[in-house]
Amino acid sequence: MKIGFVGAGRVGSTIAFTCLQQLDVEEIALVDIMENLAIGEAMDLAHAAAGLGKYPEIVGGSDYSILEGSDIVVVTAGSARKPGMSRLDLAMKNAGIIKDVARKIMESSPESKILVITNPVDLMTYVMWKESGKSRNEVFGMGNMLDSMRLKRTLHELGVKNINKAWILGEHGDSMFISRTLIDAENVPELEKVLSEVRFVAAEVIKRKGATFYGPAIAAYRMINAVLNNTKEEMPASVILKGEFGFSDVSVGVPAIIGKNGVEKIVEYPLDPQDMENLRNSVKLLKERLKELGY
Ligand code: NAI
Repeated sequence: MKIGFVGAGRVGSTIAFTCLQQLDVEEIALVDIMENLAIGEAMDLAHAAAGLGKYPEIVGGSDYSILEGSDIVVVTAGSARKPGMSRLDLAMKNAGIIKDVARKIMESSPESKILVITNPVDLMTYVMWKESGKSRNEVFGMGNMLDSMRLKRTLHELGVKNINKAWILGEHGDSMFISRTLIDAENVPELEKVLSEVRFVAAEVIKRKGATFYGPAIAAYRMINAVLNNTKEEMPASVILKGEFGFSDVSVGVPAIIGKNGVEKIVEYPLDPQDMENLRNSVKLLKERLKELGY
């Protein structure tokens, strides 16, 4: 079991740390343009592993050849939005990075599944899919999994009991929505109010500590585990649609079964009219943005 990373910053390294603890990983390889950061993270992770009685091979560097043979490559490379930078500026900048990363992954580890985390994640997943030329089941993004974890926590704080299922779908961004069709919990409150809390909560973390990484790390680990242990779990993931729900040529958050082949199946629940309207809205926005990026 080998996990590769492109991007060894806060999110990438915390995902590696989580996977090291939770999975029987044989190899971890961390690539970053900041070579010393990648090497330092690899050393720190190796020391942590020894404390758990684990001795996987953990390497870091800026050369993509270390990714060879990865079962899955987790991509967090990119910039965060800087003051004065528009949403489009950020998407343009990160799309340039993802294009380059796609080419290099295909040269070094063409068989790997690719989990995209870099924001705006739905757009970056699409760019990765297009530029890598991989089949659509092998490239997918993490966004709504994290949104749904935040939703669960918010519902818990509002006293909602027995939360069996509570998912956010659509864009990992402003147009995301709580699926009314799929929610399964006791005493569900008014969802619009809950959604505005969930949307606000990530910005609140970023305002206070500068970034989010524990939540993203667990969300990513859940998806990585599903692939590496072939759990075939159903979860919200950003996936390339080809006619599902009536949409094509876009990556957006919908229910999917994740297993050893990546996206094993997109689960086309008959969504209620409100959910369909919200999904249509996310798809429309994402397609407009893909056009701005030249796709
Ligand atoms: P960070 O700045 O700590 O790490 C990013 C790393 O990428 C840096 O170490 C940087 O050197 C590296 N990098 C930049 N360009 C590169 C290139 N061309 N090749 C290789 N490495 C490169 O940022 P952080 O906090 O780890 O966030 C990473 C990304 O993940 C951001 O885009 C952020 O918005 C996104 N994110 C997405 C979430 C989601 O739910 N999808 C949740 C949290 C963060």
